[in-house]
Amino acid sequence: MSESVLDLSLQNLPRIGVETEKKLVNAGIESVLDLATALPDELVEIIGGTRDRASALIFTAQEKLRESGLLEKEFIPASEVLDRRRSLMKCTTGSKNFDDLLNGGIETQAITEIWGEYGSGKSQICHTLCITSQLPVDQGGFGRGSIFIDTESTFRPERLHQIAEARGLNPDEVLNKIIFCKVYNSSHLELLVKNLGKYIEKHDVKLVLIDSIISLHRAEFMGRGTLAERQQKLNALIHRLLRLAEIFNIAVVVTNQVQAQPDTFFGDPTKPAGGHVIAHACTYRLYLKKAGADRKAIMVDSPYHPYEETRFTINEMGISDPDSKKSKN
Ligand SMILES: Nc1ncnc2c1ncn2[C@@H]1O[C@H](COP(=O)(O)OP(=O)(O)OP(=O)(O)O)[C@@H](O)[C@H]1O
Ligand SMILES: [Mg+2]
Repeated sequence: MSESVLDLSLQNLPRIGVETEKKLVNAGIESVLDLATALPDELVEIIGGTRDRASALIFTAQEKLRESGLLEKEFIPASEVLDRRRSLMKCTTGSKNFDDLLNGGIETQAITEIWGEYGSGKSQICHTLCITSQLPVDQGGFGRGSIFIDTESTFRPERLHQIAEARGLNPDEVLNKIIFCKVYNSSHLELLVKNLGKYIEKHDVKLVLIDSIISLHRAEFMGRGTLAERQQKLNALIHRLLRLAEIFNIAVVVTNQVQAQPDTFFGDPTKPAGGHVIAHACTYRLYLKKAGADRKAIMVDSPYHPYEETRFTINEMGISDPDSKKSKN
């Protein structure tokens, strides 16, 4: 990115008055990027007025980003879409099987959701990706660091150290490029994601991991009465993440918990939590299941992958293929 998206201040926008700007800045919307990723209802709360006016303001900010070439234009020839898709990068997961399931690895400009029951390997995949993303591009990585957002206190630097070592990387160098953030409640997570663009650029990362996207909201918004509010907040969160993935050409990986469906009589009684809100915004959804000593990964939802499943295992290398150790020895 030649020009910094962070350099574009609100003063670059023609339709914002001094008072409105002040209100926006006070609410933490300080740049064109912040405004472009804001949501209409949130803006109405900040500056008052109608939802239409708020939408128009957001649109103006998005137009500005488009003019600067920092956001995709709205109506473009398919050839340009293809060009943009070509700038898309993929990162190996550390398991050949898993990479094949993903047609090459975790993609930029997309959100990949990983869901499954406890111990199915969600956090292990996140830890492994922190390492593999730092492999050079010609070895299947992004050659860049990552941001790890932990909501469940399961981040383990020792484990990162072990995986890096097992994969022949210098653990100290690698750990230096993994930016860790512990999140304490749902508002903290929302605020963090609001400001994430700044951190992505500052630390020059290519991957953002959130383990897990839903646990805090799920714990804080309990019962039917608060469901609508929770879904609205999750919707805002996930759409902002998708926008960031597109603007910065980064990969976003989120983990999700399972929700039991007690009324299921046939088949698997679990489904991902978060309902349609999460389902629609995530580009890829992977379901993990325990399978003896190994794990099974199933591609549940994807714009162009067929329904497929594969096996992987968890060992000192993070995740890898079930027979990789045997073939090594
Ligand atoms: N160094 C290691 N070698 C082999 N297996 C490991 C290693 N570290 C962790 N595991 C395995 O990983 C599993 C835990 O996986 P993980 O923490 O990713 O689950 P999760 O899906 O995130 O679960 P939760 O929903 O509880 O967060 C355990 O079964 C553990 O045995
Ligand atoms: Mg976990």
